[in-house]
Amino acid sequence: MKQTWEEEVVYQIYPRSFCDSNGDGVGDIPGIISKLDYLASLGVKILWLSPIYKSPLFDMGYDVADYYSIHEQMGTMEDFDRLFSESKKRGMKIVMDLVVNHTSNEHEWFKRALRGEAPYHDYYVFRKGKKKGVPPNNWTSMFTGPAWEYVPELDEWYLHLYDAAQPDLNWHNPAVKEEVKKILRFYLDKGVYGFRCDVINQIYKESYANGKGLNASGKGMEHYLSTEGNHRILQELYRDVFSAYPDHVVIGETLNVDIPTGERFLRDHELDMFFTFEHMNVDKALGGGIMKKFRPEKLRKVLFDYQQGVRWNAIYFENHDQLRSLPRFGNTKEYRDISAKALATLLLTLKGTPFIYQGQELGMLNAPGRDVDESLDCACRSIYKLLRKSLHIPTGLAKKMACNFDRDRCRAPMAWNEERGLGFTSGKAWLPFAEDDGTHNVASEEKSEDSVLAYYRKLIRLRRERIELHAGEFDPLDTRGSLFAYRRVSGKDSVLIMINLYAKPLALPRYLQSVHGKVLLQNYSGKLEGSLPPYGAAIIALE
Ligand code: NOJ
Repeated sequence: MKQTWEEEVVYQIYPRSFCDSNGDGVGDIPGIISKLDYLASLGVKILWLSPIYKSPLFDMGYDVADYYSIHEQMGTMEDFDRLFSESKKRGMKIVMDLVVNHTSNEHEWFKRALRGEAPYHDYYVFRKGKKKGVPPNNWTSMFTGPAWEYVPELDEWYLHLYDAAQPDLNWHNPAVKEEVKKILRFYLDKGVYGFRCDVINQIYKESYANGKGLNASGKGMEHYLSTEGNHRILQELYRDVFSAYPDHVVIGETLNVDIPTGERFLRDHELDMFFTFEHMNVDKALGGGIMKKFRPEKLRKVLFDYQQGVRWNAIYFENHDQLRSLPRFGNTKEYRDISAKALATLLLTLKGTPFIYQGQELGMLNAPGRDVDESLDCACRSIYKLLRKSLHIPTGLAKKMACNFDRDRCRAPMAWNEERGLGFTSGKAWLPFAEDDGTHNVASEEKSEDSVLAYYRKLIRLRRERIELHAGEFDPLDTRGSLFAYRRVSGKDSVLIMINLYAKPLALPRYLQSVHGKVLLQNYSGKLEGSLPPYGAAIIALE
């Protein structure tokens, strides 16, 4: 039996920015419930919710203070149960975010660990310093700065691969594994479909030896990325928990996963699919501080390599950590809609499960950059500190660079209509709106047959209808020129996809000029001839 995740499309909800039902400026679960009909009409069948658990929100919920309660701004556990049953009525399944590399420093376990209390002290990674004032090793946090924090009362340091407010759990401790299994069962028993597992290939630290290299962030990762222990743990979770729930999905957020490692995660049921980062780095330099000119060929090379090397992919161009794809890979000026549709064509016709990030289906933009002091993003603030204090980059330039890291910008509230508050809130939104101030919004796009939203609807439907598109093999065609051209093949049937991600026309190679087939969808009017227009995309059922 085909699994839902092999056939359907996932929609990522960033709950704080999706829909606010009570006017406090923050999205909430009743708000999500009120938009389920919209989501059903889009045709998505799986909803992934970024964290909604109790949290001090230092990292906007990726710092969980209690896995069994819902953040009060989001609603209650009853609201959550209602979300679940209302989604089910509409044929949609819910995927939760599982954040278990670390907890919040406000989690009860950590508070007790800080008091040196058994068994909680051993739930985390505490070590003696090398000598007075010197941490146990030279690792740096993913958010930059040392990965250890000193606790004077214990004369020990604790490990945090992210912020000091996010202490790492000790996955060498069997009790931690049992706690996580309990959390998984709690939600699976409620009927949750599965989990998107936050930074899941960093959880098991094989050793605490010094890291090599000069990385300002993530130094030491050779000791904890995709380790043997990590593979064993995921197998254990499958054996002890997931295997008892045949209809489930486990999605990994995984850093630096090459093709053999990725295949290994899939082979033994460790993960059903995983997010890679390589394709999201093609336009970045200096770890993301500087955006480089986007070259579509580079994106194609990375995507095609994974398409060919990995059995199944999680396909995404946007999420709550990445600036919007349209200004990066598309065109926000004269080709805004057509380029959004070209990117949609790519997203929904590659092999794997496509993930749409809320607002992407409208062609949403980022919020404008603002002063780093105003940012609510802990990563952005910490990177700015590094740029200024350690690298001595002048303030103006450092602020400009920090803007590229500011995740507040891609978390701008969803634009539902043109009214004040954009239909997101009747109060004051917790974050600024996208830079077009909601000109692209659900209400206006629903009125037009030609909108980005209408195109997404058609594409999602098409992907479900055509077996080649959701289950077919991937066959790359043009791999030298500037064109994205590939077939999706199922038995004797095949569908050809051609996409131009340039702002100028692109001549087709001769063998593609005379293809025989039926155009299933294209993002421009006019006949398919010897070239594709700027950002043109076409999907053709070959005869
Ligand atoms: C990845 C999440 O997507 C991101 O938002 C978060 O800051 C880090 N993991 C740490 O949990």
